[in-house]
Amino acid sequence: MRSLLFVPADSPRKLDKAMTCGADALIVDLEDSIALDGKARAREAAAAFLKSAVKTPVRPTLIVRVNGLQSGLTDADLDAIIGARPDAIMLPKAEGGASIVHADAKLAVREAISGLPDGHVKIIALATETAAALFRAGSYAGASARLAALTWGAEDLSAELGAETNRDGQGRFLDPYRLARVLCLAGAAAAEVPAIDTVYVDFRDSDGFRRECEEARRDGFSRKMAIHPAQVPMINELFTPTPEAIARAQAVVDAFAANPEAGVVGIGGVMVDRPHLNRAKRLLARATTKR
Ligand code: COA
Ligand code: MG
Repeated sequence: MRSLLFVPADSPRKLDKAMTCGADALIVDLEDSIALDGKARAREAAAAFLKSAVKTPVRPTLIVRVNGLQSGLTDADLDAIIGARPDAIMLPKAEGGASIVHADAKLAVREAISGLPDGHVKIIALATETAAALFRAGSYAGASARLAALTWGAEDLSAELGAETNRDGQGRFLDPYRLARVLCLAGAAAAEVPAIDTVYVDFRDSDGFRRECEEARRDGFSRKMAIHPAQVPMINELFTPTPEAIARAQAVVDAFAANPEAGVVGIGGVMVDRPHLNRAKRLLARATTKR
Protein backbone atom coordinates (compact mmCIF):
# COMPACT_ATOMS: atom_id res chain seq x y z
CA MET A 1 0.00 0.00 0.00
CA ARG A 2 1.25 3.43 -0.94
CA SER A 3 -1.63 5.93 -1.31
CA LEU A 4 -4.66 6.43 0.97
CA LEU A 5 -7.29 8.90 -0.29
CA PHE A 6 -9.68 10.72 2.06
CA VAL A 7 -13.25 10.90 0.82
CA PRO A 8 -16.08 12.59 2.76
CA ALA A 9 -18.71 9.93 3.48
CA ASP A 10 -21.58 12.22 2.48
CA SER A 11 -20.48 12.58 -1.16
CA PRO A 12 -21.63 9.66 -3.34
CA ARG A 13 -20.04 11.34 -6.35
CA LYS A 14 -16.58 11.49 -4.75
CA LEU A 15 -16.92 7.97 -3.34
CA ASP A 16 -17.66 6.72 -6.84
CA LYS A 17 -14.73 8.57 -8.41
CA ALA A 18 -12.39 7.44 -5.65
CA MET A 19 -12.96 3.75 -6.38
CA THR A 20 -11.27 4.03 -9.78
CA CYS A 21 -8.69 6.79 -9.24
CA GLY A 22 -5.77 4.45 -8.56
CA ALA A 23 -5.62 4.92 -4.78
CA ASP A 24 -4.50 1.81 -2.91
CA ALA A 25 -6.87 2.63 -0.06
CA LEU A 26 -9.84 4.92 0.57
CA ILE A 27 -10.48 6.57 3.93
CA VAL A 28 -14.21 7.21 4.08
CA ASP A 29 -14.47 10.11 6.49
CA LEU A 30 -17.10 10.44 9.21
CA GLU A 31 -15.04 12.85 11.29
CA ASP A 32 -13.74 16.34 10.45
CA SER A 33 -15.19 16.67 6.94
CA ILE A 34 -18.72 15.97 8.23
CA ALA A 35 -20.67 18.58 10.22
CA LEU A 36 -22.26 17.45 13.48
CA ASP A 37 -25.83 17.46 12.20
CA GLY A 38 -24.78 15.48 9.13
CA LYS A 39 -23.22 12.57 11.05
CA ALA A 40 -26.29 10.30 10.99
CA ARG A 41 -26.77 10.65 7.25
CA ALA A 42 -23.05 10.23 6.59
CA ARG A 43 -23.01 6.96 8.58
CA GLU A 44 -25.83 5.58 6.44
CA ALA A 45 -24.10 6.70 3.26
CA ALA A 46 -20.82 5.12 4.36
CA ALA A 47 -22.51 1.80 5.14
CA ALA A 48 -24.38 1.75 1.82
CA PHE A 49 -21.19 2.52 -0.09
CA LEU A 50 -19.16 -0.13 1.76
CA LYS A 51 -21.77 -2.83 1.23
CA SER A 52 -21.40 -2.61 -2.52
CA ALA A 53 -17.73 -1.56 -2.65
CA VAL A 54 -16.45 -4.56 -0.66
CA LYS A 55 -17.88 -6.87 -3.34
CA THR A 56 -15.90 -5.25 -6.16
CA PRO A 57 -13.41 -7.89 -7.34
CA VAL A 58 -10.40 -5.59 -7.67
CA ARG A 59 -10.77 -2.79 -5.17
CA PRO A 60 -8.85 -0.47 -2.88
CA THR A 61 -8.56 -1.26 0.82
CA LEU A 62 -11.60 0.28 2.50
CA ILE A 63 -11.04 2.24 5.70
CA VAL A 64 -13.53 4.35 7.66
CA ARG A 65 -12.35 7.25 9.77
CA VAL A 66 -14.71 7.20 12.74
CA ASN A 67 -15.05 9.97 15.29
CA GLY A 68 -12.57 9.86 18.19
CA LEU A 69 -13.17 8.13 21.50
CA GLN A 70 -13.61 11.48 23.30
CA SER A 71 -16.37 12.63 20.93
CA GLY A 72 -19.18 10.42 22.22
CA LEU A 73 -19.89 9.48 18.59
CA THR A 74 -17.68 6.41 18.12
CA ASP A 75 -20.24 3.80 19.20
CA ALA A 76 -22.90 5.03 16.79
CA ASP A 77 -20.29 5.16 14.00
CA LEU A 78 -19.24 1.56 14.62
CA ASP A 79 -22.85 0.34 14.99
CA ALA A 80 -23.58 1.76 11.54
CA ILE A 81 -20.55 0.54 9.61
CA ILE A 82 -19.07 -2.68 10.99
CA GLY A 83 -21.79 -4.89 9.48
CA ALA A 84 -20.75 -3.49 6.08
CA ARG A 85 -17.31 -5.13 6.58
CA PRO A 86 -14.73 -2.35 6.22
CA ASP A 87 -11.13 -3.57 6.14
CA ALA A 88 -10.09 -1.10 8.83
CA ILE A 89 -11.07 1.92 10.86
CA MET A 90 -8.90 4.98 11.29
CA LEU A 91 -8.98 6.18 14.90
CA PRO A 92 -8.43 9.95 15.12
CA LYS A 93 -7.13 11.66 18.28
CA ALA A 94 -5.70 8.36 19.51
CA GLU A 95 -3.69 8.73 22.71
CA GLY A 96 -1.39 5.73 22.80
CA GLY A 97 -1.86 2.01 23.23
CA ALA A 98 -4.72 2.43 25.74
CA SER A 99 -6.89 3.98 22.99
CA ILE A 100 -6.21 1.00 20.76
CA VAL A 101 -7.13 -1.48 23.50
CA HIS A 102 -10.37 0.49 23.99
CA ALA A 103 -11.21 0.55 20.27
CA ASP A 104 -10.27 -3.13 19.95
CA ALA A 105 -12.91 -4.07 22.55
CA LYS A 106 -15.55 -2.00 20.76
CA LEU A 107 -14.71 -3.70 17.46
CA ALA A 108 -14.72 -7.21 18.93
CA VAL A 109 -18.30 -6.75 20.16
CA ARG A 110 -19.53 -5.49 16.77
CA GLU A 111 -17.72 -8.24 14.90
CA ALA A 112 -19.44 -10.85 17.05
CA ILE A 113 -22.84 -9.25 16.46
CA SER A 114 -22.22 -8.99 12.69
CA GLY A 115 -20.84 -12.51 12.31
CA LEU A 116 -17.40 -11.27 11.27
CA PRO A 117 -14.28 -13.17 12.32
CA ASP A 118 -12.64 -11.74 15.45
CA GLY A 119 -9.91 -9.31 14.39
CA HIS A 120 -11.23 -8.77 10.84
CA VAL A 121 -11.34 -4.97 11.16
CA LYS A 122 -7.87 -3.47 11.58
CA ILE A 123 -7.02 -0.12 13.24
CA ILE A 124 -4.91 2.72 11.87
CA ALA A 125 -4.11 5.22 14.62
CA LEU A 126 -3.89 8.98 14.07
CA ALA A 127 -1.30 9.33 16.76
CA THR A 128 -0.38 13.03 17.13
CA GLU A 129 -3.58 15.08 17.19
CA THR A 130 -3.59 16.08 20.85
CA ALA A 131 -0.82 17.35 23.12
CA ALA A 132 -1.25 14.31 25.40
CA ALA A 133 -0.95 11.99 22.38
CA LEU A 134 2.61 13.18 21.73
CA PHE A 135 3.72 11.86 25.12
CA ARG A 136 2.15 8.45 24.44
CA ALA A 137 3.37 7.86 20.90
CA GLY A 138 5.80 5.24 22.19
CA SER A 139 3.11 3.09 23.81
CA TYR A 140 1.51 1.38 20.79
CA ALA A 141 3.62 -1.80 20.78
CA GLY A 142 1.61 -4.86 21.79
CA ALA A 143 -1.68 -2.95 22.23
CA SER A 144 -3.61 -5.08 19.73
CA ALA A 145 -2.98 -7.34 16.76
CA ARG A 146 -5.44 -5.11 14.93
CA LEU A 147 -2.99 -2.20 14.86
CA ALA A 148 -2.03 -1.93 11.18
CA ALA A 149 -0.24 1.43 10.93
CA LEU A 150 0.34 4.79 12.58
CA THR A 151 -0.16 8.13 10.96
CA TRP A 152 -0.05 11.72 12.12
CA GLY A 153 -1.87 15.01 11.72
CA ALA A 154 -0.95 18.67 12.25
CA GLU A 155 -4.33 20.41 11.96
CA ASP A 156 -5.94 19.39 15.25
CA LEU A 157 -2.59 19.57 17.03
CA SER A 158 -1.98 23.17 15.96
CA ALA A 159 -5.45 24.13 17.19
CA GLU A 160 -4.81 22.44 20.52
CA LEU A 161 -1.40 24.09 20.92
CA GLY A 162 -2.91 27.50 20.19
CA ALA A 163 -0.62 28.04 17.21
CA GLU A 164 -1.19 30.62 14.49
CA THR A 165 -0.02 28.29 11.73
CA ASN A 166 1.67 24.92 11.28
CA ARG A 167 3.71 25.57 8.11
CA ASP A 168 6.20 28.28 7.14
CA GLY A 169 5.97 30.52 4.06
CA GLN A 170 7.44 27.78 1.84
CA GLY A 171 4.89 25.20 3.01
CA ARG A 172 7.30 23.33 5.30
CA PHE A 173 6.09 22.15 8.69
CA LEU A 174 7.26 24.16 11.70
CA ASP A 175 9.09 22.60 14.68
CA PRO A 176 6.15 21.38 16.79
CA TYR A 177 4.79 19.42 13.79
CA ARG A 178 8.19 18.11 12.74
CA LEU A 179 8.42 16.68 16.26
CA ALA A 180 4.97 15.09 15.91
CA ARG A 181 6.03 13.62 12.56
CA VAL A 182 9.14 12.04 14.08
CA LEU A 183 7.18 10.70 17.06
CA CYS A 184 4.82 9.01 14.61
CA LEU A 185 7.75 7.52 12.71
CA ALA A 186 9.47 6.27 15.86
CA GLY A 187 6.20 5.10 17.44
CA ALA A 188 5.38 3.08 14.33
CA ALA A 189 8.84 1.53 14.19
CA ALA A 190 8.65 0.66 17.91
CA ALA A 191 5.26 -1.01 17.32
CA GLU A 192 6.58 -2.69 14.15
CA VAL A 193 3.90 -1.24 11.88
CA PRO A 194 4.23 1.02 8.83
CA ALA A 195 4.24 4.82 9.22
CA ILE A 196 1.93 6.81 6.95
CA ASP A 197 2.73 10.45 6.20
CA THR A 198 0.08 13.12 6.71
CA VAL A 199 -1.96 15.07 4.13
CA TYR A 200 -0.81 18.04 2.05
CA VAL A 201 -3.84 20.30 1.97
CA ASP A 202 -2.72 22.68 -0.81
CA PHE A 203 -3.74 20.26 -3.55
CA ARG A 204 -2.88 22.56 -6.46
CA ASP A 205 0.78 22.90 -5.34
CA SER A 206 2.38 19.89 -6.97
CA ASP A 207 6.00 21.04 -6.40
CA GLY A 208 5.47 21.36 -2.64
CA PHE A 209 3.63 18.07 -2.63
CA ARG A 210 6.43 16.25 -4.46
CA ARG A 211 9.01 17.63 -2.04
CA GLU A 212 6.96 16.47 0.94
CA CYS A 213 6.54 12.97 -0.56
CA GLU A 214 10.28 12.69 -1.18
CA GLU A 215 11.17 13.86 2.33
CA ALA A 216 8.69 11.39 3.82
CA ARG A 217 10.08 8.45 1.87
CA ARG A 218 13.65 9.49 2.69
CA ASP A 219 12.88 9.50 6.42
CA GLY A 220 11.10 6.13 6.53
CA PHE A 221 7.42 6.67 5.79
CA SER A 222 6.22 4.00 3.36
CA ARG A 223 2.79 5.51 2.59
CA LYS A 224 1.08 8.88 2.34
CA MET A 225 -2.47 10.12 2.66
CA ALA A 226 -4.13 12.26 -0.05
CA ILE A 227 -7.11 14.59 0.03
CA HIS A 228 -7.57 14.90 -3.74
CA PRO A 229 -7.39 12.31 -6.56
CA ALA A 230 -4.79 14.48 -8.34
CA GLN A 231 -2.32 13.64 -5.54
CA VAL A 232 -2.64 9.87 -5.93
CA PRO A 233 -0.43 9.22 -9.00
CA MET A 234 2.53 11.07 -7.46
CA ILE A 235 2.26 9.13 -4.19
CA ASN A 236 2.08 5.84 -6.09
CA GLU A 237 5.09 6.79 -8.18
CA LEU A 238 7.28 8.06 -5.34
CA PHE A 239 6.43 5.34 -2.81
CA THR A 240 7.01 2.46 -5.22
CA PRO A 241 10.59 1.24 -4.73
CA THR A 242 12.64 2.14 -7.83
CA PRO A 243 14.55 -0.53 -9.80
CA GLU A 244 17.80 1.04 -8.50
CA ALA A 245 16.63 0.81 -4.88
CA ILE A 246 15.54 -2.80 -5.41
CA ALA A 247 18.90 -3.66 -6.98
CA ARG A 248 20.76 -2.04 -4.07
CA ALA A 249 18.65 -3.94 -1.54
CA GLN A 250 19.14 -7.21 -3.42
CA ALA A 251 22.91 -6.66 -3.41
CA VAL A 252 22.85 -6.31 0.39
CA VAL A 253 20.77 -9.47 0.81
CA ASP A 254 23.04 -11.36 -1.61
CA ALA A 255 26.21 -10.20 0.16
CA PHE A 256 24.99 -11.52 3.52
CA ALA A 257 23.70 -14.74 1.93
CA ALA A 258 27.20 -15.32 0.53
CA ASN A 259 28.71 -14.65 4.00
CA PRO A 260 26.17 -16.07 6.46
CA GLU A 261 28.58 -15.79 9.42
CA ALA A 262 29.43 -12.15 8.77
CA GLY A 263 28.06 -9.30 10.87
CA VAL A 264 29.40 -6.74 8.46
CA VAL A 265 30.37 -6.78 4.77
CA GLY A 266 31.73 -4.30 2.25
CA ILE A 267 29.75 -3.47 -0.88
CA GLY A 268 31.33 -1.12 -3.43
CA GLY A 269 33.70 0.28 -0.80
CA VAL A 270 30.98 1.00 1.77
CA MET A 271 30.42 -0.78 5.08
CA VAL A 272 27.08 -2.58 5.35
CA ASP A 273 25.97 -4.22 8.59
CA ARG A 274 22.96 -6.12 9.97
CA PRO A 275 20.58 -3.13 10.33
CA HIS A 276 21.11 -2.46 6.61
CA LEU A 277 20.15 -6.07 5.92
CA ASN A 278 16.86 -5.65 7.79
CA ARG A 279 16.11 -2.45 5.90
CA ALA A 280 16.91 -4.14 2.57
CA LYS A 281 14.60 -7.05 3.38
CA ARG A 282 11.78 -4.66 4.26
CA LEU A 283 12.20 -2.80 0.98
CA LEU A 284 12.16 -6.03 -1.02
CA ALA A 285 9.02 -7.15 0.83
CA ARG A 286 7.35 -3.86 -0.09
CA ALA A 287 8.43 -4.19 -3.71
CA THR A 288 6.82 -7.61 -4.03
CA THR A 289 3.46 -6.95 -2.31
CA LYS A 290 1.13 -5.24 -4.73
CA ARG A 291 -0.94 -2.96 -2.51
N1 COA B 1 -12.21 11.88 -3.50
C1 COA B 1 -12.84 11.63 -4.68
N2 COA B 1 -13.10 12.56 -5.61
C2 COA B 1 -12.69 13.81 -5.34
C3 COA B 1 -12.03 14.15 -4.15
C4 COA B 1 -11.78 13.13 -3.21
N3 COA B 1 -11.15 13.37 -2.05
N4 COA B 1 -11.72 15.46 -4.17
C5 COA B 1 -12.18 15.93 -5.35
N5 COA B 1 -12.77 14.95 -6.06
C6 COA B 1 -13.38 15.05 -7.38
C7 COA B 1 -14.43 16.15 -7.42
O1 COA B 1 -15.69 15.60 -7.09
C8 COA B 1 -14.35 16.59 -8.84
O2 COA B 1 -15.05 15.70 -9.67
P1 COA B 1 -16.29 16.23 -10.57
O3 COA B 1 -15.78 17.44 -11.26
O4 COA B 1 -16.56 15.08 -11.45
O5 COA B 1 -17.36 16.49 -9.57
C9 COA B 1 -12.89 16.40 -9.21
O6 COA B 1 -12.38 15.47 -8.28
C10 COA B 1 -12.10 17.67 -9.15
O7 COA B 1 -12.29 18.28 -7.89
P2 COA B 1 -11.87 19.81 -7.63
O8 COA B 1 -12.87 20.71 -8.26
O9 COA B 1 -10.44 19.96 -8.01
O10 COA B 1 -11.95 19.91 -6.07
P3 COA B 1 -13.22 20.32 -5.21
O11 COA B 1 -13.19 21.80 -5.02
O12 COA B 1 -14.45 19.70 -5.76
O13 COA B 1 -12.93 19.63 -3.81
C11 COA B 1 -12.06 19.31 -1.64
C12 COA B 1 -11.91 20.06 -2.95
C13 COA B 1 -10.89 19.65 -0.76
C14 COA B 1 -13.38 19.72 -0.96
C15 COA B 1 -12.08 17.78 -1.95
O14 COA B 1 -10.88 17.47 -2.61
C16 COA B 1 -12.32 16.89 -0.78
O15 COA B 1 -13.45 16.68 -0.38
N6 COA B 1 -11.24 16.28 -0.23
C17 COA B 1 -11.33 15.38 0.90
C18 COA B 1 -11.63 16.14 2.17
C19 COA B 1 -11.54 15.28 3.39
O16 COA B 1 -11.96 14.14 3.41
N7 COA B 1 -10.97 15.84 4.48
C20 COA B 1 -10.77 15.11 5.70
C21 COA B 1 -9.36 14.65 5.89
S1 COA B 1 -8.15 15.91 5.99
MG1 MG C 1 -8.76 16.22 12.37
